[in-house]
Amino acid sequence: MERRPIVMANWKMNKQPNEAIAYIQTAAKAVASYPDVEPILAGQDVLLQSMVDAAEDTTIEIGAENVYWKEEGAYTGETSPKVVANLGVQYVIIGHSERRNYFRETDEMVNLKALAALRNGLKPIIALDETVQTESNNAHMHWIVNQVIEALKGVSKDQMQSVVLAYEPTQAIGSGMAMGPEQAQKDLYMIRETVSDMFDAKVAEQLRILYGGSVKPENAYAIMRQRDIDGVLVGNSALDPDNFIELVKLAHQAKKTK
Ligand code: PGA
Repeated sequence: MERRPIVMANWKMNKQPNEAIAYIQTAAKAVASYPDVEPILAGQDVLLQSMVDAAEDTTIEIGAENVYWKEEGAYTGETSPKVVANLGVQYVIIGHSERRNYFRETDEMVNLKALAALRNGLKPIIALDETVQTESNNAHMHWIVNQVIEALKGVSKDQMQSVVLAYEPTQAIGSGMAMGPEQAQKDLYMIRETVSDMFDAKVAEQLRILYGGSVKPENAYAIMRQRDIDGVLVGNSALDPDNFIELVKLAHQAKKTK
């Protein structure tokens, strides 16, 4: 089964408008040499229109970092998934660990947002965090399986073709301490097995699952070579377009070993 790997930069609340455009101009030509890898950039809502415009006629896809779960209405300050989709944005990160931790997003909110993204033609990259690493193996497994089940409630088999999952252990995010490739592979395998139980083996086999948390060019190849890891979601390191290009190249090389 061929799964096209993703390298996604999550800029978070960084980049000025001119920097966003310059980044896309720098990366566009280089990443186009690796068509077997899908390059995605996620930026703040206020940058999305200019990102979409700058990425026109390139192979780079654009993602939002969050959306609300209603299309319209009196929800001051929220962003409609319908508007984001109408801008020409293809992806949206849902349930990032920073949203869960700083903005108190619950599993239920994550599920509502994932469903709203799908309803509006956006592909959700649903982030699963992991905060119980140091507890028993059972608690660790239970935590991950439960998050998958809660996030995908009410999602149809058909819709699963547009879903991407991203596993990001909280301690690994922004800490410089990525999870070991073997442990990450184990956890991603468990996520895929859970999806297989919820839907079927075919849905699980097609699903792309990313690893995120302190990924950089130095450790990305070992991570992306793992059988169940279909790419990376990268914060800090991918603020630099040269690193983003390098990560896309490494994804291409890792894919050849699978
Ligand atoms: P990091 O962030 O690469 O800076 O650890 C990853 C993420 O939050 O998606």
